[in-house]
Amino acid sequence: MRAVFTGTGMHVPPHVVDNHRMARVMDTSDEWIRQRTGIVERRFAGLDQATSDLAATAAEGAIAEAGIEKSEIDYVLVATMTPDYYFPGVAPIVQHKLDLPPVPCLDIRQQCSGFVYGMQLADAMLRSGQYRNVLLVGAEVHAGFMPWTDWEIVLDGKQRPLPEGEFEWNTRFRDRAVIFGDGAGAFVVSAREDGASGVEDVMVCADGDHADKMWVPGAGSAYRPYVRREMIERGDLVPIVEGPKVFKVAVRVMPEAVRAILKRNGYTVDDLRLLIMHQANLRINEVVQRTLGLEDDKVFNNIQKYGNTTAATLPMAFHEAREACGLEKGDLVCFVALGSGLTWGAALYRI
Ligand code: UT7
Repeated sequence: MRAVFTGTGMHVPPHVVDNHRMARVMDTSDEWIRQRTGIVERRFAGLDQATSDLAATAAEGAIAEAGIEKSEIDYVLVATMTPDYYFPGVAPIVQHKLDLPPVPCLDIRQQCSGFVYGMQLADAMLRSGQYRNVLLVGAEVHAGFMPWTDWEIVLDGKQRPLPEGEFEWNTRFRDRAVIFGDGAGAFVVSAREDGASGVEDVMVCADGDHADKMWVPGAGSAYRPYVRREMIERGDLVPIVEGPKVFKVAVRVMPEAVRAILKRNGYTVDDLRLLIMHQANLRINEVVQRTLGLEDDKVFNNIQKYGNTTAATLPMAFHEAREACGLEKGDLVCFVALGSGLTWGAALYRI
């Protein structure tokens, strides 16, 4: 039994926010953001959109391509670090918005590597014969983490001054505020008895020793009560990213993970048709590409258009790469990601 991606979909909200617009709410510049991250623009969800909305729309596309009835989806997995609510999880909300019958629904909270964890779960569920069609979604609305209050300037380009002191306040978070974007990607993963196509292997790992390299320090069961006014006033609800430290870990661990999964399956990098990397920073991906000695046509990046969409980067990149890179039956694709936790992982998929 193989786990085959029978349909893929993606959805990004319509608000395109370029770097120039970001520079109107904090001390940054198009030049800095492009040079340090490769990002040109990102999408932010509208004020009435939550993660489940983007997830459901991406899932509709994947289900349509898979050519199955919604009633045939028998498990829903949603990877996100920005669920609609503290609880319940977002997966049951996605199931409800899609009008699916009652089925098991599970949230995956592994941030940037959540989708790789999801591939491992989907693969195991399908190969065990317990399920036939797993809906696997990666979706994020990071907009809620952003420090500014005036969304009309950011979303609609309204020309007006910010409230007093807010430019300085937003600038405190500029290293993180410029890197995130909102979006969703979805796969229908189906059990197939025959054929060479399907997930070949998934390896995932975590090291909680680095939990404080990327995290949201405020709000949670570590506090009484969960949230206090001082946390908001200190900006503790905005993620902390120890950027340079994580950068160094990412450029070491991601190539190691790719080499390890290739080796344990008897392959080398020469067997790869495409490497789909987490889209956290174009410079990270350029280093990983060089380290692995991959030609430009063996990697695909779309961070330039969407920023870092955390759990959604891998499915969104694969969805676009299928056409952009002309993937064909028999091609070997590797996925790799590293993120908060720290968590990381790689997957091999035969088209
Ligand atoms: O998604 C999960 C995985 N995440 C990652 O892998 C993130 C990895 N790290 C990164 O992508 C990068 O470290 C960042 C994009 C987060 C930051 O880039 P950097 O090149 O590491 O910059 P830095 O934090 O070392 O800051 C360099 C300078 C500082 O100024 P000084 O101290 O040299 O005067 C910052 O204050 O750049 C300044 N700076 C900015 N300037 C303009 C930081 N952010 C900005 C900004 N605009 N947005």
